[in-house]
Amino acid sequence: MKIVAVLYPAGEKTAKENPGLLGCAENELGLREFLEGKGHEYVVMSDKEKTLDDALLTADVAITTPFWPAYITKERIEKAKNLKLILTAGVGSDHVDLKAAAEKGITVAEITGSNVVSVAEHVVMQILVLARNFVPAYKNVVEGGWDIAAIASRAHDIEDKTVGIVGFGRIGQRVAMRLKPFDVKLFYYDFRRATGAEEATFGARYLPLEQLLCCSDIVSINCPLTPKTDRLFNKERLFAMKKGAYLVNTARGRIVDTDALVSALNAGHLAGYAGDVWYPQPAPKDHPWRSMPNHAMTTHYSGTTLEAQARYASGIRMCLEAFFKGEPIERDYIIVENGRVASPSYSYAYEA
Ligand code: NAI
Repeated sequence: MKIVAVLYPAGEKTAKENPGLLGCAENELGLREFLEGKGHEYVVMSDKEKTLDDALLTADVAITTPFWPAYITKERIEKAKNLKLILTAGVGSDHVDLKAAAEKGITVAEITGSNVVSVAEHVVMQILVLARNFVPAYKNVVEGGWDIAAIASRAHDIEDKTVGIVGFGRIGQRVAMRLKPFDVKLFYYDFRRATGAEEATFGARYLPLEQLLCCSDIVSINCPLTPKTDRLFNKERLFAMKKGAYLVNTARGRIVDTDALVSALNAGHLAGYAGDVWYPQPAPKDHPWRSMPNHAMTTHYSGTTLEAQARYASGIRMCLEAFFKGEPIERDYIIVENGRVASPSYSYAYEA
């Protein structure tokens, strides 16, 4: 079989010096020996254009990653006559046209849970970075300044603040658990409501989205990108948020309308924005989020810590082993199977 992987580039030297960077193209998810030992062809690249187009034509399996997304469009799926399996090295398969994959009977799976702790930790970090006005404080030090008034006039404690989590799945719940000891008031919105026992465990109560937005000092977005969440945070919703609130988005860039966010920050309606996800990726040099005021954005790496890379690389290998043996892939990993979008986190948006 032919397995094609599109992974982020690290450069030969960096990849060699850091073998733990398993998710880069040079280190190939650590799969070459395993795949070639079984007689398979393994083609790895970072190019997301022509080289990928050509390789996909005869591929049986495609491996992609959200950190360096190769967009597996309907057009590409239609041309890839042998394609049977698309695997996401990470979590979040929105870069694949799920409907087109379902129509062609292709299975789509991701490594569910592989980086949820990594992302939850990043969310907590970015909430604190915004609330404590960390980025200007750090810049002030590096630039030789000591302007306490300028920094402290925008610095807050998060104790007693209201935090709203949109998408209360694996990451959203872990964010809640990590924030609970900060003595914040926690609310969540999800189209699937948690049980009373779960709400008690996480210390978070359900609120409809519009209510959550208008009462939260801090909002964290943790739902997948689907046709229902594409630009969910449009101009109307961003300006319906509490004035002076912070928004953290580690889910997907397209859940927030690019220009509307810039307007909300320029107008001072939002006090700050952070996250690590952009559209498109990599973000072009002139992406407006790079230069908007009061942001603490990073490149997309929250879910690709060294620990996360080890987990998703081994998850990909498990999926391939099952696939070669004709055995079922881990149930929780399945996004599309048997001609339908099967993951409960995605199916809601496709069945309606
Ligand atoms: P999950 O599937 O465990 O949870 C997602 C939750 O969102 C589910 O409870 C689902 O019911 C809810 N949801 C779906 N549509 C919704 C809607 N329209 N409104 C409200 N809630 C909705 O997924 P997990 O592991 O928590 O990941 C969530 C997302 O985070 C991923 O789909 C991915 O896009 C993103 N992610 C980002 C990473 C990064 O490195 N920045 C790494 C891992 C995930």
